Amino acid sequence: MSHQAAKLEALVKQKGNNTAKKTRFIAITSGKGGVGKSTISSNMAHIMAKNGLKVGIFDADIGLANLDVMFNVKITKNILHVLRGEASVEDILVPIEKNLVLIPGESGEEIFKYASSGLFERFMDEAHILDDLDVMIIDTGAGIGEHIQLFLRACDDVVVVTVPDPAAITDAYATIKVTSRLRNEISVIMNQVRNEKEALGLFEKIQKVALANIGNQLRLNYLGQISSDPKVVMSVKKRALFTREFPTSLPASELEVIVKRLAKKMERNVLVSPQESGLGGFFKRLMEHF
Ligand SMILES: Nc1ncnc2c1ncn2[C@@H]1O[C@H](COP(=O)(O)OP(=O)(O)OP(=O)(O)O)[C@@H](O)[C@H]1O
Ligand SMILES: [Mg+2]
Repeated sequence: MSHQAAKLEALVKQKGNNTAKKTRFIAITSGKGGVGKSTISSNMAHIMAKNGLKVGIFDADIGLANLDVMFNVKITKNILHVLRGEASVEDILVPIEKNLVLIPGESGEEIFKYASSGLFERFMDEAHILDDLDVMIIDTGAGIGEHIQLFLRACDDVVVVTVPDPAAITDAYATIKVTSRLRNEISVIMNQVRNEKEALGLFEKIQKVALANIGNQLRLNYLGQISSDPKVVMSVKKRALFTREFPTSLPASELEVIVKRLAKKMERNVLVSPQESGLGGFFKRLMEHF
């Protein structure tokens, strides 16, 4: 363990031995960009919040048009302001609706620059106000960069999103391959498909290649598909959530199936020590491998 990580661990250990709710961290990632990560993350968060889960959504790829656009909010400060001591965690949180809060993030690359500063400790302290979340969805950037991999390693679930075009499938496979070094289960969502049959056919192809090249220690989990639908395009253009605008549409019901499958995985309400819970616990895990 590096000196920095040891310091952080000592810090979080001071928090005492009470138990806290375990927040489930779900990373939404992709090989190729523009395949629907932010569309899926934001709508997934909305469905979960509507169903009574306390949801945080962390934009790890801010700066490009992402979750701020999806939720139609203006972001002035992000996690870097907290790390620089210019804002408190509370200051940067953007309430979206009941049970849903947006945490404007930054790429791992930027965050790690502050790992050794004393201000990081203050951030860890303040992050405890988010310990109450049931789930934190992390919208990562696309690609197989080192810092994205650190996010994927620290999460409980990794969901790779892809679309049917061959370049996207190739890149999704590359992400799966790199990520399989860190974990033995990866979930896949097929987005912008014509129908379930096409989605399953493509998933099986990915699975076959993975089995041949990575081996059977990797469990590839089919989470579901979302059909290509102009209602999704229209909603994004209007900066609205398609699951709110068109709750009975096919893509909305398909995303509900996906959320149900994810929820099943998080059914056990685990209690953990506070140092493992919440955003603070997440950053601790993130830093352990830095
Ligand atoms: N199911 C769908 N049907 C039709 N269009 C879709 C669907 N999902 C996403 N799109 C379209 O794809 C575009 C890109 O989606 P999104 O911004 O969510 O991708 P991303 O993976 O987050 O991109 P980036 O890598 O740039 O962050 C959206 O503007 C939307 O129009
Ligand atoms: Mg995005």
